[in-house]
Amino acid sequence: MLDARLSMVYSLLPDGEFLCDIGTDHCKLAVYAAEQGRVPGALATDLRRGPLAAARKTVEAHAMTDNIQLMLSDGFINIPQKLFDKIGCFVIAGMGGELIESILRKRFTDKWLVLQPMSAVFELNLFLCENGYAVKKRVFCRDGDKMYTALLCRHDGALRKFCPFEGAVRDENFYLYLEKELFRIKKALEGMSRSDNVDAERKRGLERLERIIISNMTERKNENQ
Ligand SMILES: C[S@@+](CC[C@H](N)C(=O)[O-])C[C@H]1O[C@@H](n2cnc3c(N)ncnc32)[C@H](O)[C@@H]1O
Repeated sequence: MLDARLSMVYSLLPDGEFLCDIGTDHCKLAVYAAEQGRVPGALATDLRRGPLAAARKTVEAHAMTDNIQLMLSDGFINIPQKLFDKIGCFVIAGMGGELIESILRKRFTDKWLVLQPMSAVFELNLFLCENGYAVKKRVFCRDGDKMYTALLCRHDGALRKFCPFEGAVRDENFYLYLEKELFRIKKALEGMSRSDNVDAERKRGLERLERIIISNMTERKNENQ
Protein backbone atom coordinates (compact mmCIF):
# COMPACT_ATOMS: atom_id res chain seq x y z
CA MET A 1 0.00 0.00 0.00
CA LEU A 2 2.88 2.40 0.71
CA ASP A 3 5.49 3.41 -1.86
CA ALA A 4 9.17 3.83 -0.93
CA ARG A 5 8.70 7.43 0.24
CA LEU A 6 5.72 6.72 2.47
CA SER A 7 7.37 3.52 3.78
CA MET A 8 10.29 5.69 4.84
CA VAL A 9 7.90 8.07 6.63
CA TYR A 10 6.15 5.10 8.26
CA SER A 11 9.49 3.75 9.52
CA LEU A 12 9.93 6.89 11.63
CA LEU A 13 6.61 6.71 13.47
CA PRO A 14 7.06 6.32 17.21
CA ASP A 15 5.12 3.25 18.40
CA GLY A 16 1.82 3.64 20.17
CA GLU A 17 1.34 7.39 19.72
CA PHE A 18 -1.99 8.80 18.52
CA LEU A 19 -1.19 10.02 15.01
CA CYS A 20 -2.14 13.17 13.18
CA ASP A 21 -1.43 13.16 9.43
CA ILE A 22 -1.49 16.75 8.21
CA GLY A 23 -2.24 17.12 4.47
CA THR A 24 -3.25 13.47 4.31
CA ASP A 25 -4.68 13.46 0.75
CA HIS A 26 -5.21 9.71 0.04
CA CYS A 27 -4.80 8.86 3.77
CA LYS A 28 -2.69 5.79 2.95
CA LEU A 29 -0.20 6.39 5.74
CA ALA A 30 -2.73 6.70 8.56
CA VAL A 31 -4.76 3.73 7.31
CA TYR A 32 -1.70 1.52 7.03
CA ALA A 33 -0.37 2.57 10.45
CA ALA A 34 -3.75 1.82 12.07
CA GLU A 35 -4.06 -1.52 10.24
CA GLN A 36 -0.60 -2.55 11.41
CA GLY A 37 -1.53 -1.62 15.00
CA ARG A 38 1.37 0.83 15.08
CA VAL A 39 -0.90 3.64 16.30
CA PRO A 40 -3.97 3.46 18.56
CA GLY A 41 -5.89 5.79 16.24
CA ALA A 42 -5.41 8.74 13.97
CA LEU A 43 -6.68 12.10 12.91
CA ALA A 44 -6.12 12.79 9.21
CA THR A 45 -6.53 16.36 7.99
CA ASP A 46 -6.38 18.25 4.76
CA LEU A 47 -6.82 21.85 3.71
CA ARG A 48 -9.08 20.92 0.79
CA ARG A 49 -12.35 19.02 0.41
CA GLY A 50 -11.23 17.01 -2.67
CA PRO A 51 -8.26 15.30 -0.97
CA LEU A 52 -10.36 14.77 2.16
CA ALA A 53 -12.99 12.98 0.03
CA ALA A 54 -10.21 10.75 -1.35
CA ALA A 55 -9.10 10.09 2.24
CA ARG A 56 -12.67 9.14 3.21
CA LYS A 57 -12.77 6.60 0.34
CA THR A 58 -9.56 4.92 1.56
CA VAL A 59 -10.72 4.89 5.18
CA GLU A 60 -14.07 3.35 4.22
CA ALA A 61 -12.52 0.83 1.82
CA HIS A 62 -10.33 -0.43 4.68
CA ALA A 63 -13.17 -0.37 7.27
CA MET A 64 -11.20 2.07 9.40
CA THR A 65 -13.91 4.61 10.18
CA ASP A 66 -13.81 3.79 13.92
CA ASN A 67 -10.04 4.32 14.04
CA ILE A 68 -9.47 7.32 11.83
CA GLN A 69 -11.14 10.70 12.16
CA LEU A 70 -11.06 13.07 9.18
CA MET A 71 -11.05 16.84 9.40
CA LEU A 72 -10.65 19.90 7.22
CA SER A 73 -7.85 21.98 8.71
CA ASP A 74 -5.24 24.47 7.62
CA GLY A 75 -2.16 22.87 9.17
CA PHE A 76 -2.70 22.53 12.93
CA ILE A 77 -4.98 25.56 13.12
CA ASN A 78 -8.49 24.09 13.11
CA ILE A 79 -7.80 21.12 15.38
CA PRO A 80 -9.75 21.58 18.65
CA GLN A 81 -7.46 21.92 21.69
CA LYS A 82 -8.66 18.72 23.40
CA LEU A 83 -7.91 16.66 20.30
CA PHE A 84 -4.63 18.53 19.71
CA ASP A 85 -3.49 17.58 23.24
CA LYS A 86 -4.30 13.91 22.60
CA ILE A 87 -1.98 13.71 19.56
CA GLY A 88 1.40 12.11 20.20
CA CYS A 89 2.91 12.43 16.74
CA PHE A 90 2.26 14.79 13.84
CA VAL A 91 3.26 13.81 10.31
CA ILE A 92 3.67 16.52 7.68
CA ALA A 93 4.74 14.78 4.49
CA GLY A 94 4.82 15.39 0.76
CA MET A 95 4.88 19.19 1.01
CA GLY A 96 7.47 21.90 0.39
CA GLY A 97 9.79 22.80 3.26
CA GLU A 98 8.46 26.38 3.35
CA LEU A 99 4.89 25.16 3.81
CA ILE A 100 5.97 22.76 6.57
CA GLU A 101 7.79 25.62 8.30
CA SER A 102 4.74 27.89 8.04
CA ILE A 103 2.54 25.16 9.57
CA LEU A 104 4.97 24.76 12.51
CA ARG A 105 5.18 28.52 13.04
CA LYS A 106 1.40 28.97 13.25
CA ARG A 107 0.78 26.69 16.26
CA PHE A 108 3.39 25.33 18.61
CA THR A 109 3.69 21.68 19.60
CA ASP A 110 6.33 19.82 21.58
CA LYS A 111 5.05 16.42 20.45
CA TRP A 112 6.85 14.12 18.01
CA LEU A 113 7.10 15.44 14.46
CA VAL A 114 7.77 13.37 11.37
CA LEU A 115 8.56 15.77 8.54
CA GLN A 116 9.07 14.83 4.90
CA PRO A 117 9.88 17.95 2.86
CA MET A 118 9.83 17.68 -0.96
CA SER A 119 11.84 20.89 -1.43
CA ALA A 120 13.65 23.59 0.59
CA VAL A 121 15.00 20.81 2.80
CA PHE A 122 17.97 22.80 4.04
CA GLU A 123 15.88 25.91 4.67
CA LEU A 124 13.57 23.79 6.85
CA ASN A 125 16.63 22.43 8.67
CA LEU A 126 17.82 25.94 9.39
CA PHE A 127 14.42 26.78 10.88
CA LEU A 128 14.53 23.65 13.08
CA CYS A 129 18.09 24.38 14.29
CA GLU A 130 17.29 28.01 15.09
CA ASN A 131 13.99 27.28 16.80
CA GLY A 132 14.87 24.60 19.31
CA TYR A 133 13.99 21.36 17.49
CA ALA A 134 16.24 18.32 17.90
CA VAL A 135 16.41 15.93 14.96
CA LYS A 136 16.51 12.45 16.49
CA LYS A 137 16.69 10.52 13.26
CA ARG A 138 17.01 11.36 9.59
CA VAL A 139 16.50 8.80 6.85
CA PHE A 140 16.82 8.72 3.07
CA CYS A 141 15.29 6.63 0.33
CA ARG A 142 15.36 6.22 -3.39
CA ASP A 143 12.36 5.65 -5.66
CA GLY A 144 13.42 5.30 -9.29
CA ASP A 145 15.70 8.24 -9.97
CA LYS A 146 14.25 10.36 -7.15
CA MET A 147 15.72 10.68 -3.68
CA TYR A 148 13.71 11.62 -0.59
CA THR A 149 14.45 12.40 3.02
CA ALA A 150 12.39 12.40 6.20
CA LEU A 151 13.14 13.35 9.78
CA LEU A 152 11.88 12.57 13.23
CA CYS A 153 12.22 15.53 15.52
CA ARG A 154 10.96 17.09 18.72
CA HIS A 155 11.16 20.48 20.36
CA ASP A 156 13.57 20.67 23.32
CA GLY A 157 14.21 24.42 23.26
CA ALA A 158 17.99 24.16 22.68
CA LEU A 159 19.35 26.38 19.93
CA ARG A 160 21.74 24.67 17.54
CA LYS A 161 24.27 25.58 14.91
CA PHE A 162 23.16 24.72 11.36
CA CYS A 163 23.25 20.93 11.41
CA PRO A 164 21.68 19.66 8.17
CA PHE A 165 22.63 16.02 8.76
CA GLU A 166 22.08 15.68 12.52
CA GLY A 167 20.73 12.21 13.24
CA ALA A 168 21.36 10.91 9.71
CA VAL A 169 21.41 7.17 9.15
CA ARG A 170 24.63 6.88 7.12
CA ASP A 171 23.61 4.19 4.67
CA GLU A 172 23.97 3.93 0.88
CA ASN A 173 20.93 6.14 0.33
CA PHE A 174 22.43 8.89 2.51
CA TYR A 175 25.57 9.06 0.36
CA LEU A 176 23.53 8.90 -2.85
CA TYR A 177 21.46 11.80 -1.53
CA LEU A 178 24.65 13.77 -0.79
CA GLU A 179 25.90 13.16 -4.33
CA LYS A 180 22.65 14.40 -5.87
CA GLU A 181 22.56 17.45 -3.59
CA LEU A 182 26.17 18.29 -4.38
CA PHE A 183 25.38 18.14 -8.09
CA ARG A 184 22.34 20.40 -7.59
CA ILE A 185 24.33 22.92 -5.52
CA LYS A 186 27.23 23.03 -7.96
CA LYS A 187 24.81 23.72 -10.84
CA ALA A 188 23.11 26.49 -8.84
CA LEU A 189 26.47 28.07 -7.99
CA GLU A 190 27.60 27.82 -11.62
CA GLY A 191 24.39 29.58 -12.66
CA MET A 192 25.06 32.30 -10.09
CA SER A 193 28.60 32.79 -11.35
CA ARG A 194 27.14 33.70 -14.77
CA SER A 195 24.50 36.05 -13.38
CA ASP A 196 24.80 39.76 -12.56
CA ASN A 197 21.96 39.64 -10.08
CA VAL A 198 22.99 37.26 -7.31
CA ASP A 199 21.32 36.87 -3.93
CA ALA A 200 24.50 37.03 -1.82
CA GLU A 201 22.92 35.41 1.23
CA ARG A 202 21.60 32.48 -0.79
CA LYS A 203 25.02 32.07 -2.43
CA ARG A 204 26.72 31.99 0.98
CA GLY A 205 24.17 29.42 2.17
CA LEU A 206 24.84 27.17 -0.85
CA GLU A 207 28.61 27.45 -0.42
CA ARG A 208 28.30 26.52 3.25
CA LEU A 209 26.14 23.55 2.37
CA GLU A 210 28.59 22.48 -0.32
CA ARG A 211 31.41 22.46 2.27
CA ILE A 212 29.33 20.43 4.75
CA ILE A 213 28.40 17.87 2.08
CA ILE A 214 31.99 17.51 0.86
CA SER A 215 33.22 17.04 4.43
CA ASN A 216 30.59 14.30 5.01
CA MET A 217 31.66 12.56 1.79
CA THR A 218 35.35 12.85 2.72
CA GLU A 219 34.67 11.33 6.16
CA ARG A 220 33.23 8.29 4.41
CA LYS A 221 36.20 8.00 2.05
CA ASN A 222 38.56 8.13 5.04
CA GLU A 223 36.55 5.49 6.91
CA ASN A 224 36.77 3.18 3.89
CA GLN A 225 40.56 3.52 3.53
C1 LIG B 1 1.22 16.13 -2.25
S1 LIG B 1 -0.02 15.86 -1.09
C2 LIG B 1 0.82 14.82 0.08
C3 LIG B 1 -0.08 13.74 0.60
C4 LIG B 1 0.55 12.85 1.65
N1 LIG B 1 0.81 13.60 2.88
C5 LIG B 1 1.80 12.20 1.14
O1 LIG B 1 2.89 12.49 1.65
O2 LIG B 1 1.71 11.37 0.21
C6 LIG B 1 -0.12 17.39 -0.21
C7 LIG B 1 -1.45 17.58 0.49
O3 LIG B 1 -1.31 18.64 1.43
C8 LIG B 1 -2.50 19.37 1.43
N2 LIG B 1 -2.19 20.71 2.01
C9 LIG B 1 -1.58 21.76 1.42
N3 LIG B 1 -1.48 22.78 2.27
C10 LIG B 1 -2.02 22.38 3.44
C11 LIG B 1 -2.22 22.97 4.71
N4 LIG B 1 -1.84 24.24 4.97
N5 LIG B 1 -2.84 22.25 5.68
C12 LIG B 1 -3.24 20.99 5.45
N6 LIG B 1 -3.09 20.37 4.26
C13 LIG B 1 -2.48 21.05 3.28
C14 LIG B 1 -2.93 19.39 -0.01
O4 LIG B 1 -4.30 19.68 -0.13
C15 LIG B 1 -2.56 17.96 -0.44
O5 LIG B 1 -3.65 17.08 -0.29
